[in-house]
Amino acid sequence: MSRLLHGTRRLCLASLVGLSLLPAAASAAPSPPTAPAPAPAPAALTWTGTSAALEARVAVLLARMTLEEKVGQLNQYSSESATGPFSATPARASAIREGRVGSMLNVVGAARTRELQAQAMQSRLKIPLLFGHDVIHGLRTTFPIPLAEAASWDLEAMERSARIAGAEAAAAGLHWTFAPMVDVARDPRWGRVMEGAGEDPYLGARIATARVHGFQGDVPGALDAVMATAKHFAGYGAAIGGRDYNATDMSERHLRDVILPPFKAAADAGVATFMNSFNDLNGTPATASSHLQREILKGEWGYQGFVVSDWNSVGELVPHGVAADMREAARLAINAGNDMDMESDAYSAHLADLVRDGQVPVATIDEAVRRVLRAKFRLGLFDDPYRFSDVKREQRVLGDPTHARFARQLARESIVLLRNEGGLLPLSPAGKTIAFIGPLAKATKDNLGGWAVELDGLDYDTLVKPQYEGLRARLPAGARLLYAQGCDVGDPSTAGFAEAVATARQADVVVLSVGESRDMTGEAHSRSNLHLPGAQEELVRAIVATGKPVVMLVNAGRPLVLDWASTHVPAIVYTWWLGSEAADAIADVLLGDYNPGGRLPMSLPRSEGQIPVYYAYTNTGRPGTEHDQGYHTGYNDLPRTALYPFGYGLSYTHFSYEALELDRRELRGDERLTASVRITNDGSRSGAEVVQLYLRDLVASVERPLHELRGFERVVLQPGESRTVRFTIDRDALSFHDAQLRWVAEPGDFELQVGASAEDIRLRERFSLRD
Ligand code: NOJ
Repeated sequence: MSRLLHGTRRLCLASLVGLSLLPAAASAAPSPPTAPAPAPAPAALTWTGTSAALEARVAVLLARMTLEEKVGQLNQYSSESATGPFSATPARASAIREGRVGSMLNVVGAARTRELQAQAMQSRLKIPLLFGHDVIHGLRTTFPIPLAEAASWDLEAMERSARIAGAEAAAAGLHWTFAPMVDVARDPRWGRVMEGAGEDPYLGARIATARVHGFQGDVPGALDAVMATAKHFAGYGAAIGGRDYNATDMSERHLRDVILPPFKAAADAGVATFMNSFNDLNGTPATASSHLQREILKGEWGYQGFVVSDWNSVGELVPHGVAADMREAARLAINAGNDMDMESDAYSAHLADLVRDGQVPVATIDEAVRRVLRAKFRLGLFDDPYRFSDVKREQRVLGDPTHARFARQLARESIVLLRNEGGLLPLSPAGKTIAFIGPLAKATKDNLGGWAVELDGLDYDTLVKPQYEGLRARLPAGARLLYAQGCDVGDPSTAGFAEAVATARQADVVVLSVGESRDMTGEAHSRSNLHLPGAQEELVRAIVATGKPVVMLVNAGRPLVLDWASTHVPAIVYTWWLGSEAADAIADVLLGDYNPGGRLPMSLPRSEGQIPVYYAYTNTGRPGTEHDQGYHTGYNDLPRTALYPFGYGLSYTHFSYEALELDRRELRGDERLTASVRITNDGSRSGAEVVQLYLRDLVASVERPLHELRGFERVVLQPGESRTVRFTIDRDALSFHDAQLRWVAEPGDFELQVGASAEDIRLRERFSLRD
């Protein structure tokens, strides 16, 4: 049940009334000539300036609306420039004044949203616009890209980062973010893996819940929160071959067991909206899928929010080849449960006619409009359409220094230490010469990662500190820092190698910052070659050949292939894209002021040919051992596991696992089992360990994965400190969809595993589920 449906909002609305836009005056304006007469509503009733219950207000307003005005609420347009002045054709601007636009995207800023809202207030019924934007990992403060944040496994921190992003967005006049992206993704060629939480449905679901709560806050309509969007519904992350926008094809069991859990978690967390997706799923484009939108989302899950299409995904039903023209596209989409049309204009051009021609029931339109209006009422926009557009508040919230401090904290939690031979890290710089080399050492905006919002008037090249500067500022007197670029990110030229090698030779240790540029991941940025781009692989080899100890920082929006480096570069730090505070966070880790505790949310493949590689594979009939060749499942030239698996990450300290105990060996009915395990930090630094719980169903009616994550806890332990971590397992944790798609927990034996990654299981115990 949606959180937004609970009673808090009503109380809130009752106290908000006051600024009323009296509909009686508004309705004096003539109806558009083509509009059928709106259904009469009792004159005494009003939808503003009243403490009437939300549904009553929606009903009163709906009854006053013409068909065209209803369709207008389902129409969303974009400004051509997100943070610049509103720009659109004059036709679109007048559409707003005529009540033919329900929402705008890509309009950011208290002043700009106010300006545009004022135009909507010239419409007959003065229905406010909703302002939506892609606030994916921060607005003024940029947090790590979502995949990096997922590597922190710190749910509270991710909720807080979404909370801050929501507060900044709301202060910039926005009502709605198109985040979180909750697509489970197992193919790193797909450029959008950066936007999600990685490969696992359980971790993805937990993070989805945290992010939705973060963006939306506790009270719908609060001025420091925005509506969130669970996207892209559904299957987008399973694009065949990792090619963005491509078709997806999967069994209904896979859909329900792997793809849907984060969406369901978002719905349960009260996410205000869903966005459907560009892809077709088993032949039906998601935007035209009744199965997804009507049967599963609004039917089985009872979802009460609204569904927005993806950008022109209604129009794209034509190239998909399921609609002959835009009119048919509009009909298919609305009937399938797509409530709002982002940018295709198919609804605004055809829905009213489709109703008049009997192709779309007016009840279908009404239902969609109700969903949109409820959201506007809950935000308090009918009581004050400008309540989010306050320039003073915007300045105060966007300038809040606590935001940057927290961004640094989360950035360092997101860093994953992959290799640290001979304890090369942390560095002891006193009296040493360090060479900072590589195309990303002095990069600025690249640290922000893809999908970062760049606000007008801010110069990010001066605002974002380069990694080189982060380290330089922290070196003790007497330590020297040298620099050479070596090469560009994507350019094959090796002209800078000689200087880089000479610089390395002068140093005691080299920090090598390599990887992708920020525009290499994200939408429409799928890649088939996941090795370091351009001449960077060669640069790494040339620097390693100097014999100097090398610490490699990998800046990336996706898992890259680090096959050579994994055996030749002594220290590898996966920094992803860490946002506006990247430089300080990286320096914290390099210098040991922070002990890295991030864990991979997505496996790193040994080669592109191994993709998709993920930990929750099935045993198959011919499992063999990891290195078996021949008549076994796998390749003859590669082990079947990832190079660095899901859940993996090192620390500057060491943790031991012992005393795994189950409080019972048999579970019946609704009983729960508690597993406890003692974790000890037996190194000499404090640090965070992510204790992971996996379950394996040993024999079931359908083949089940070798193991699946069903719990985790991130514990911070001082040197020598021990903590007992407890996990509770209920029937749900043992359940899956059987061949008849029933959600079942089948009696039998299970193995419970506790470990430090999917491939580093330290302790195992068995238990049984009985009838
Ligand atoms: C297309 C993307 O797929 C979606 O995630 C995004 O929210 C919309 N464009 C709006 O920018």
